[in-house]
Parts: sequence; C-alpha cells; structure tokens
Amino acid sequence: MHIEGATAFVTGGVSGLGLGAARMLLDGGASTALVDMNEEKAGEAIEELGELGERARFLACDVSDSEQVEAAVTAAVEALGPIRILVNAAGVAPAQRLVSRDGELFDLELFKFTVGVNLIGMFDVIRNVAGVMAGNEPDGNGERGVIVNVASAAAFDGQIGQAAYAASKGGVVGMTLPLARDLGSVGVRVVTVAPGIMDTPLLAGAPQELRDSLSRLQVFPRRLGTPEDFAHLVRAIIENPMLNGEVIRLDAAARMPPR
Ligand SMILES: NC(=O)c1ccc[n+]([C@@H]2O[C@H](COP(=O)([O-])OP(=O)(O)OC[C@H]3O[C@@H](n4cnc5c(N)ncnc54)[C@H](O)[C@@H]3O)[C@@H](O)[C@H]2O)c1
Repeated sequence: MHIEGATAFVTGGVSGLGLGAARMLLDGGASTALVDMNEEKAGEAIEELGELGERARFLACDVSDSEQVEAAVTAAVEALGPIRILVNAAGVAPAQRLVSRDGELFDLELFKFTVGVNLIGMFDVIRNVAGVMAGNEPDGNGERGVIVNVASAAAFDGQIGQAAYAASKGGVVGMTLPLARDLGSVGVRVVTVAPGIMDTPLLAGAPQELRDSLSRLQVFPRRLGTPEDFAHLVRAIIENPMLNGEVIRLDAAARMPPR
C-alpha cells in the first residue's frame, strides 16, 4: 500500500506512538486524522507537526464510546476521503494487584474500563473503518486497506499488577489472525505490533533510575524504543504486501520480569 496520497486514521494520534506514526504518515504524503480524546494535547501536537500539520485533522473521540467512533469515522471520510490506513494506538495502562497487601481486591470497574478502551474500543474502530475500506477502489495489488494495531509485550509477559492490561492486549493479539481472515476477501491486511518499553509521555515522568533499569532489560540495542522506531515498523507493514495476520514484537529482545 502506498502512503503518498492515502487517507490515514490514527487513534491515540496526538501523543507517543500514535503521534510518531502520524508524523511518518504525514511526512510520506498521507492526509491523516488524529483521533484522540485529549483535546489539550491535540493543539500541541498540531503545532509540533508544523507544516506537516496542514494535512492533519484532529477529531475528538473516545474510542470506548461507539457513537463517537462512528461519528469520527464519518467525519474523517468527509474531510479527508476514504480511509486506506488505520493505526490503532489509543490505549490506557492502569495497574493494580489482584489482591493488595491490605486485602483490597482488584477493582472490577478498572478491569472493564481497561478492556473497554484497549480491546472493545479498538474492535469498534476496526469494525467501522473496515466497513469504509471494503468500499475502496483496490490498488494495483488488489489492496483496499491496511490496519495496524498496537498490543504490548505485556500480552505475552505481563508484570505484577498488569492482569487487566495484559488481558486487553492479549485480546488484541488473539483477534489479529481472525480479523485478517475476515478481511482477506476484500483486500484488507491486519497486523499487530507488540512494543516492549518505549520512551513516550507514558514513561517521560518516570525517574531516571527506573528508565535506566528498564533500559538494562533490553538485550540489544540497550536503549528504550522510540516513537520513530515504532513509525519505522508501521511504514514497513503498510508497504510490504506479504505481512498479514501476524503479531510482531518490537522490543530489542527484552522479556519482562515479574516486576
Ligand atoms: N510506551 C510503552 O512503553 C508501550 C509499550 C507497549 C505498548 N504500548 C501501547 O502503545 C499505545 C500508545 O501508548 P503511548 O506509550 O504512545 O502512550 P500515550 O499516553 O503517549 O498515548 C496514548 C494516547 O491514547 C489516547 N487515549 C487514551 N484513551 C483513549 C480513548 N478512550 N479514546 C481515545 N484516545 C484515547 C491518549 O489521550 C493518548 O493521547 C497504547 O496502546 C499502549 O498500551 C506502549
């Protein structure tokens, strides 16, 4: 799939990995909808994008609200044209032990919230965007769209306190192949990226000591991943027509320990 001239829809597009992917897509010549619930960060992101921001459009949307998802997809198509590229990077990462030292149980609402955003919200975006993609004109390779989902290394080696997060990301891993199979007949590919430890605003507030200890988990290179590393892989997935139905770890061979 060519990026130049395409329309892209990036959830979580105003921060971290989503913003990194959006910058790459804009730089490659795609018109890009930055779909996010954080309106404050949107202004900063558009400003930071400078001239590239001219082909970007912020759409306020909570991906866990189905009406907002439908409205954002419709608004993106109206403003920028039929969506050919979807990057699903919106996500939340709360942590809580199953049973705390003082006997408090994991908050069931927190579990539902995490799965509601990371898994059900993502599925809802995919469902709505896939409906648009199915009606696209196929390109020279018969492709109508590419969908890139963000899971996490926590889908495989979730740490203490990450039961909800790991369950939500495990769901993203699990739905990757069946979604690719569902959409194969209309020429839409689905690939999931499972990042390890990435240097995004999620981690920016962490003390240097913690950042250093996380870097030491990396086998090689011994540094945290960046939004640029992520964007590089997203580009490869979009451009390589044989990548489909797969989950790719992006983690410098790190395996997360229990804590
Ligand atoms: N940073 C890491 O180390 C790391 C590792 C593995 C996976 N991930 C995953 O990467 C993705 C991006 O994370 P990031 O590190 O860039 O974090 P980030 O906090 O910088 O960006 C996440 C964005 O998602 C948006 N968002 C959250 N809930 C939303 C909702 N309900 N509707 C719409 N937008 C919403 C936030 O406003 C934010 O802009 C997440 O899915 C996260 O789980 C991150």
